[in-house]
Amino acid sequence: QSFFAHKHLLSGKTVLITAGPTIEAIDPVRYLSNHSSGKMGYALASAALSAGAKVILVSGPVSLTPPNGAEIIQVKSAQEMYDAVLSHIDNVDIVMKAAAVSDYRPKEVLSQKRKKHSDNWEIELIKNPDIAYEVGKRKRAGQLLIGFAAETENIERYAREKLEKKNMDFIVANNVLQEGAGFSIDTNAVSVYGKDGLISAYPVMPKRTLAEKLIKWVGEQL
Ligand code: PMT
Repeated sequence: QSFFAHKHLLSGKTVLITAGPTIEAIDPVRYLSNHSSGKMGYALASAALSAGAKVILVSGPVSLTPPNGAEIIQVKSAQEMYDAVLSHIDNVDIVMKAAAVSDYRPKEVLSQKRKKHSDNWEIELIKNPDIAYEVGKRKRAGQLLIGFAAETENIERYAREKLEKKNMDFIVANNVLQEGAGFSIDTNAVSVYGKDGLISAYPVMPKRTLAEKLIKWVGEQL
């Protein structure tokens, strides 16, 4: 059955999706980041639009073209992503957090380019705000929070701990070391967990196809 059959599944609903990495400045020319390309989040945004939703896409720096019809908010750092998400949270029905947010940022951002004068350079990092945790704390009845988890080991345990701690309704876990899954590539393989454990496992497939399946499933949970 074509995904077109679900074009009214999310009509009248607003979905906020975060996508891509965040980048954390070290000095005017350097930053800390991760390998997220935004493909998973952008595929979700495009599937949610096809299902009739209003979509707010909060995106870190990526080289993808945003899907037509999404309201796009471009951010760089975790703090900017936090501000963008929190300022829209009261008006959304579903939050899907596919972004790979930097957990830490440099304590100090140098105002000038650091010169190459020593053999070692230690950078002190401090914790970034946890966006999903804040959204989970503020969640109101009827709102759905779906997190993602990028893990390299103990997938189920770590994913379920995040679900509990951040008051998520569901968490989509990917083993980023698995062939065909994770950062940057066009495919992914995930397991979806709820409070009572595994709900479903999706084998390796294109992120676009996976996004359609996840959006259909989310629509059925409302
Ligand atoms: O962008 P792609 O190249 O297509 O790759 C897709 C992906 C692998 C990035 C994606 O599928 C994915 O797994 N995204 C979540 C990555 C991640 O950083 O997970 P985490 O386990 O560190 O965080 C758990 C959840 O909390 C995530 O929903 C994350 O958005 C959120 N979080 C984390 C830290 C923080 N400070 N704020 C947050 O909101």
